[in-house]
Amino acid sequence: MEITLKVFRYNPEKDKRGHYEVYKVEGTENDRVLDLLEYIKGNYDGTLSFRRSCAHGVCGSDAIRINGRNMLACKTLVRDVGEKITVEPVLGLKIVKDLIVDMEPFFDNYKAVLPYFINNSPLPENGRERLQSIEARARFDETTKCILCACCTTSCPSYWANGNYYGPAAIVTAHRFIFDDRDEAASERLQILSETDGIARCHTAYNCTEACPREIKITRVIGEVKMAMVTGKLD
Ligand code: SF4
Ligand code: FES
Repeated sequence: MEITLKVFRYNPEKDKRGHYEVYKVEGTENDRVLDLLEYIKGNYDGTLSFRRSCAHGVCGSDAIRINGRNMLACKTLVRDVGEKITVEPVLGLKIVKDLIVDMEPFFDNYKAVLPYFINNSPLPENGRERLQSIEARARFDETTKCILCACCTTSCPSYWANGNYYGPAAIVTAHRFIFDDRDEAASERLQILSETDGIARCHTAYNCTEACPREIKITRVIGEVKMAMVTGKLD
């Protein structure tokens, strides 16, 4: 079948603003959008720029907008989106070139919520690791699945309006540590998220939950963090 791709192009060294180029590619309904972009790059225009690495939905590097929705190019098949496909960079982050955006502000927000395990208490005397029950591990299992693709944060209207908002991905990361009963910095993270650009900027639009390729129930996760902030309970 013939597949038509309308691809956003922008080269800051040549263009004042972005424009679209249309490419026609022979393919099948089982081709991934990433395959089609690779084909265009290999056969029509080697300067087409986009991020990708694993090609299997693991690294989170190829989040783009496909027919207006944030998706991973490597997990999206032609049969999911049809034969006419518009491909654009995600919103809310500065475009560096074509489909590549500057991820630094996204990772700055990620770093701000202390995305690492903190426990300054002495290790158990027998020298073993800090043990955790199966139930306690299950409490934050969902948020360990995040691959930091930014599909959620860059689909959030509050983030579009204010790039200083930490955004859903940072809150998902905070959740992963806040509800880990071995970690000792939950109150510090909750304090960070209670700041002006913190969790209060979430207006429950649900865009994040719909965009997440890992099917994390992000709106519910954000609700759990909000509840912990109000009640001080971490169960
Ligand atoms: Fe991507 Fe989902 Fe993680 Fe957001 S929560 S960064 S959409 S994997
Ligand atoms: Fe790694 Fe798509 S290329 S998630």
